[in-house]
Amino acid sequence: MHKISVSSFKGGTAKTSTSLHIGAALAKFHKKRVLLIDLDAQANLTAGLGFDPDAQDSMAPVFQGQKKIEEVILPTSLKNLDLIPADTWLERVEVTGPLAGDRYSHERLKEILKPLNYDTIIIDTPPSLCWLTESALIAADQSLVCATPEFYSVKGLQRLSEFMNSISARHPFNILGVALSFWNPRGKSNDAFLEVIEKTFPGKLLESKVRRDIHVSEASVYGKPIFEVAPGSRAAEDYVSLTKELLKRM
Ligand SMILES: Nc1ncnc2c1ncn2[C@@H]1O[C@H](COP(=O)(O)OP(=O)(O)O)[C@@H](O)[C@H]1O
Ligand SMILES: [Mg+2]
Repeated sequence: MHKISVSSFKGGTAKTSTSLHIGAALAKFHKKRVLLIDLDAQANLTAGLGFDPDAQDSMAPVFQGQKKIEEVILPTSLKNLDLIPADTWLERVEVTGPLAGDRYSHERLKEILKPLNYDTIIIDTPPSLCWLTESALIAADQSLVCATPEFYSVKGLQRLSEFMNSISARHPFNILGVALSFWNPRGKSNDAFLEVIEKTFPGKLLESKVRRDIHVSEASVYGKPIFEVAPGSRAAEDYVSLTKELLKRM
């Protein structure tokens, strides 16, 4: 069972879109049994799969010991793809109830996921260095880094790399790769961005980049993966290539 956290500590780096589409591609084209976990209280992954956030339980009651994880897993409209939705209760869940007094609360997710049986679990994280993000990194055996070809995005990678190193010293995980979205093949500063990424995460940049494509946000309005809404779009094509490349590295 592969457990992958998707992180960047920033908003708008396509973490949620990447989590959703790698998960959907693994389920749809590679017949893998996939569980997506939405660990961001903003619940974009949940909405992106057509669910109403706050209409069902998230990981919050599971963290609190009130529910079993099996009770909060939902099947999605795609075969082999399950989801644990998010809700606003996730925010500050670590200062609530029994978690508040637990020094090792950030190791709970790892324990909670152990009895599950999927080919791949993908955890989408919030855009900050919070308890949820740390829990996801600790629970995962691999981490996928998301970035965009922008100065502030690649600059933030250094800090991300330091934080990841400090966690993996205690809870080892591999960096699966760095996935670039909003890619413009003709961008003037592309070489400079690629160089910074190579310096920060040597050998980790994924060759398949996801080009900027309006169909990504359109698909989320329909609550479906892009493969169902715009299968011929360039982003759909890019997510298929990205998933194949990741499978080779997993
Ligand atoms: N390749 C892309 N081309 C165009 N828009 C995209 C692309 N990837 C993501 N988006 C859109 O950009 C916004 C931010 O993406 P999202 O995946 O939610 O990022 P994050 O989870 O890192 O905050 C969303 O509205 C999403 O639909
Ligand atoms: Mg997100």
